[in-house]
Amino acid sequence: MKTNAIRIHEFGGPEVLRWEEVDLADPAAGQALIRHTAIGLNFIDVYHRSGLYPAELPGGIGSEAAGVVEAIGPGVTEAAIGDRVVYTGQPADAYSERRNRDAATLVKIPDGVSDEVAAAVFLKGLTSWYLLRRSYRVQSGDSILLYAAAGGVGSLASQWAKKLGATVIGVVSTDAKAALARAHGCHHIVMADDDIPKAVRELTGGEGVAAVYDSVGRDTFFASLDSLRPHGTMVTFGNATGPVEPFAPSELAARGSLYVTRPILYHFIDTRENLLSASEELFEFIDGADVDVRIGQSYALEDAAQAHSDLEARKTTGSTILLP
Ligand SMILES: NC(=O)c1ccc[n+]([C@@H]2O[C@H](COP(=O)([O-])OP(=O)(O)OC[C@H]3O[C@@H](n4cnc5c(N)ncnc54)[C@H](OP(=O)(O)O)[C@@H]3O)[C@@H](O)[C@H]2O)c1
Repeated sequence: MKTNAIRIHEFGGPEVLRWEEVDLADPAAGQALIRHTAIGLNFIDVYHRSGLYPAELPGGIGSEAAGVVEAIGPGVTEAAIGDRVVYTGQPADAYSERRNRDAATLVKIPDGVSDEVAAAVFLKGLTSWYLLRRSYRVQSGDSILLYAAAGGVGSLASQWAKKLGATVIGVVSTDAKAALARAHGCHHIVMADDDIPKAVRELTGGEGVAAVYDSVGRDTFFASLDSLRPHGTMVTFGNATGPVEPFAPSELAARGSLYVTRPILYHFIDTRENLLSASEELFEFIDGADVDVRIGQSYALEDAAQAHSDLEARKTTGSTILLP
């Protein structure tokens, strides 16, 4: 069968994303063939496209999508033809009309959740789940600092953290994003070009926060450490400004015996059991009456390059989906 997909032949800017016709084999043993209905755009796609996270070329791109199972290979028990499913993970081939995928990585989309919402929340919501429930378990009464609070992960994580009883301090770059972040659960806003540690100390009575969730990376690493209370936890989980550079462990001692972790979603959904229980918690969370899943913008799949340009230019808010 033939299908259309975005392919990369060399690493680089958004212009390396090419819309091409490709061959698609019948699903092998353990695989399901999925017709995509909505694809999630994620910052990790930028790292794959630029080569920050290298992969073999030529290749596909995209780590999250929802769709309908059209065929299954021998031995598949996790999905049936006609099921609506969502998935996240590698190999990165989600920017495509159809693809084959290991059926053990598919999760059924609950009735009442649209394919668009599933594609908007799966990777970003599971990330919010492990950040707040595993990397540092937020306790009621904690103050936390969250970067890119009006973004995809940020707008879900801020609502979830508020629900857990935290006081959420969000970092954003514009007034419009500040208004969105407040509407999504942030109690306080610090602007990205402010003196962040000073603002955080003022907001926490001089103490500092219990945890920082930093997706900005290189440019904010030390400002984040300086915002923590003694024994606080730095969760550095993204590289929007580039990867964090090597640092001396004594930097943690000097600031109050801090903890640092650098997690990746896929270590928290490493078994089918863990994937299904995390997904259940996520879908329960978004089912909450007061939870707003913001699909800030959608693009035709063919226009993925424009979506990448807007994401990197900090023009997007909430989640972004690509529609085949
Ligand atoms: N480790 C993991 O498991 C994992 C999983 C998912 C996502 N992530 C990370 O989480 C972050 C958010 O991902 P997302 O897909 O939801 O994206 P997003 O937050 O919707 O978009 C990125 C946001 O980062 C902020 N930013 C700060 N400096 C930037 C810069 N130099 N260039 C571009 N953006 C900058 C911008 O918000 P402001 O303009 O408000 O500053 C921008 O809107 C990314 O860093 C991603 O890599 C990590």
